[in-house]
Amino acid sequence: MSNSIPAEVGMDGPQHEPVLLRELLEAAAPKEGEYWIDGTFGFGGHAAALLERGARVLAMDRDPEAEQRAALLRVTWGERLSFVRGNFAEMEAAAAGIGWDSVDGVVLDLGISSGQLDDPSRGFSFRWDAPLDMRMDPAGPVTAGDLLQELGEEDLARLFLVAARPGESRRLARAVVRARERGCLQTTGDFVTAIGAARPSRGRIHPATRAFLALRMAVNDELGSLERALPAALRLLSSGGRLAVISFQSEEDRRAKHFLREHLLRGAEGPSGAQESPEPEEGFVRQARFLPSEEESLRNPRARSARLRVGWKKTKEDL
Ligand SMILES: C[S@@+](CC[C@H](N)C(=O)[O-])C[C@H]1O[C@@H](n2cnc3c(N)ncnc32)[C@H](O)[C@@H]1O
Repeated sequence: MSNSIPAEVGMDGPQHEPVLLRELLEAAAPKEGEYWIDGTFGFGGHAAALLERGARVLAMDRDPEAEQRAALLRVTWGERLSFVRGNFAEMEAAAAGIGWDSVDGVVLDLGISSGQLDDPSRGFSFRWDAPLDMRMDPAGPVTAGDLLQELGEEDLARLFLVAARPGESRRLARAVVRARERGCLQTTGDFVTAIGAARPSRGRIHPATRAFLALRMAVNDELGSLERALPAALRLLSSGGRLAVISFQSEEDRRAKHFLREHLLRGAEGPSGAQESPEPEEGFVRQARFLPSEEESLRNPRARSARLRVGWKKTKEDL
């Protein structure tokens, strides 16, 4: 369960300020002529910084609105910026589609953008009464409403577990089942009422935060996408390439951390360096974690829960 959840999580900051940008640029050091994938284009903040450093960028996003913004950025950056709409888990196919067989860097800035959150019609926020949608890709197969109507109580409890404690998850699941039996679970407002979160928040975290986060992550299969994207990125990176993952939620950060540690090469620092054979042909020689500076957290409260993990890849023969 996340121990550090801001008011609403998994998004970039106000004015779409890219989170942990300075740390990303210093650690991953994109260079002129390099090939980078930005799997979470959003408002293009990280992609623009990569382009300013002279890199070529393949940007991806599941949201068609991001595609429109990328088209505007292409006016400035021309053919150095490509955009493929889709899930970053499919980054190998996207890269192959534009003739790239390896890349120098991959950045994933997980979650949703403040633009998605602040659009009432998308249903990501408990601040408005809106349709229970929550799809990053509006053509995606499953909405939040579908899951709330169709999942059994145990599956609902498992769904909420990603962001809530077991007792709270079961309480949420029961509340959903009761509300739908009464036929009053059509909108985000109904959901807030059903889970008893309509009362004012006593602390910094609104009571609906964890339930909305868990539901959104399930609708978009966010953990599944990350699980598929991490090995895809490792395969695509050339020797010397960097993988950067920014997460806002503890379960995502845990998966990124474990992936980097599991693929640390023997002889590299860290606990997996001493792992048993077989010796992998490629992996990370180093991994590090970065947190937002106090200054960034003050300027942009939404950055407070962000974590950046970077892994530096090498193949065995380059060690
Ligand atoms: C936090 S925002 C990224 C903000 C961006 N780095 C910027 O500087 O503007 C996350 C974006 O990634 C997209 N996204 C999240 N998961 C995705 C996935 N599995 N595949 C493709 N896009 C995804 C969301 O639609 C959203 O636009």
